[in-house]
Amino acid sequence: MITTALRCGMGRMGVARAAPLRAGVVRSISLSAPRLTEANIASALAEADGEPALPLGRVLDESLSFEPAQRPAQRPIYLDAQATSPVDPRVLDKMMPYFINQYGNPHSRTHAYGWETEAAVDEARAHIAKLIHADPKEIIFTSGATESNNMAVKGVAKFYQSKKNHIITTQTEHKCVLDSCRALQEQGFEVTYLPVDEQGHVSVEDVKNALRPTTSVVSIMTVNNEIGVIQPIREIGELLKTYGADLAKELGRGTPKPFFHTDAAQAVGKIPLDVDACGIDLLSISSHKLYGPKGIGAIYVRRRPRVRMEPLMSGGGQERGLRSGTLATPIVVGFGEAARIAAQDMASDHAHISRLSKRLRDNIMSRVEMVLLNGDANGYPGCTNMTFQYIEGESLLMALNDICLSSGSACTSASLEPSYVLRALGLDDANAHSSLRFGIGRFTTEAEIDFVCEKIVQVVHRLRELSPLWEMVQEGIDLKTIEWSG
Ligand SMILES: Cc1ncc(COP(=O)(O)O)c(C=O)c1O
Repeated sequence: MITTALRCGMGRMGVARAAPLRAGVVRSISLSAPRLTEANIASALAEADGEPALPLGRVLDESLSFEPAQRPAQRPIYLDAQATSPVDPRVLDKMMPYFINQYGNPHSRTHAYGWETEAAVDEARAHIAKLIHADPKEIIFTSGATESNNMAVKGVAKFYQSKKNHIITTQTEHKCVLDSCRALQEQGFEVTYLPVDEQGHVSVEDVKNALRPTTSVVSIMTVNNEIGVIQPIREIGELLKTYGADLAKELGRGTPKPFFHTDAAQAVGKIPLDVDACGIDLLSISSHKLYGPKGIGAIYVRRRPRVRMEPLMSGGGQERGLRSGTLATPIVVGFGEAARIAAQDMASDHAHISRLSKRLRDNIMSRVEMVLLNGDANGYPGCTNMTFQYIEGESLLMALNDICLSSGSACTSASLEPSYVLRALGLDDANAHSSLRFGIGRFTTEAEIDFVCEKIVQVVHRLRELSPLWEMVQEGIDLKTIEWSG
């Protein structure tokens, strides 16, 4: 099998030398890392069948035992709820009048068109505030969580920079937080990037040890977007209010405590959140992660004690002067309605998603060997990340052409990089590349989960049959003992 696969050109960097591959005998063998690519697998399968090469998805489909009736009707199954969610039809209904009839500028104070849209914006703001136990005046609309995160990290750091120059975050934050921190570093700020444990949790003790009198912002996300791990938000908030506040006093009375920002883009509307109970000063929200429209989000900014920040945008002074620009009423209204529905349906959504998540995990893990569950099994259930060892996530994705998922690799301009979140948990590059994220949401059905499980099980088995690495593992060869060339 190995020789066949390699003869078929499955080595990315060339063809391996045929050498006696036996456990215990092989200690240092020079071999090009065999890599399953779409073209290679497709041609390997085609060659075996004496047929011309077809795209991988089609070739594998034809080799699996799926009846056409079992396939999803028209479009692929969507299991990428962390990337975005569909707009809930109830949300769309609520938005529609604001595109055509109620089109006034909500900042127009002189006429009825402005008053009616202002009232709609106020209602939306109240729904969003309620979802996180805030005051509506503390909700500032933005274009999404990316902008909110930039505002929180850069805005607060810059406002307090005459006295403070230190920021704390974790290695597994969303890229927009990490890149905001990097931009600040270039301007002379100091940033501590805390590690996480193998499940993805940051240690509260590490936060404590990293705190300085000069720490202005601590930015730690609530739920991670790749592995679903939930950070100890309440404990961190408490630490900053007590120990952090005492440390800050070293710079003189009246020096504010380190402000606590949490990127809650993957948490709001999914799990209960209370900004007061958790000592949160700034919190980022994204509408399109909770069945609202894209292009709108918010940042919660505490009023008492007041958090001050430099606005990113100059202009008409809307949104307490923190975010100038005319509010886009239809999507603000949609976001508000999505928040109202999320509060109303949170318990039933959570029960539905937990049940499907358990069904997916139990089914796959009981039928496929060498699968790792990444992150904390008790994290947010709608985000399940699994490593299918000895198969590349990209090959899996291509074979699963009727299912929309994300892999543990990120496309950069030049190459596929292993996910930095999975690397931070201690996964090696190979395992990170072999990972898939299953994002389950409000509209995912049991039938879809069952189809996905069946397809995953069959595709993983089929790809492993074709994998030289898998065959070596079956033969008891420790892959760590092999030196790959190239
Ligand atoms: C944790 C987290 N933060 C921030 C963002 C960015 O959100 P938005 O698309 O609203 O800018 C995302 C979206 O991928 C996310 O998952």
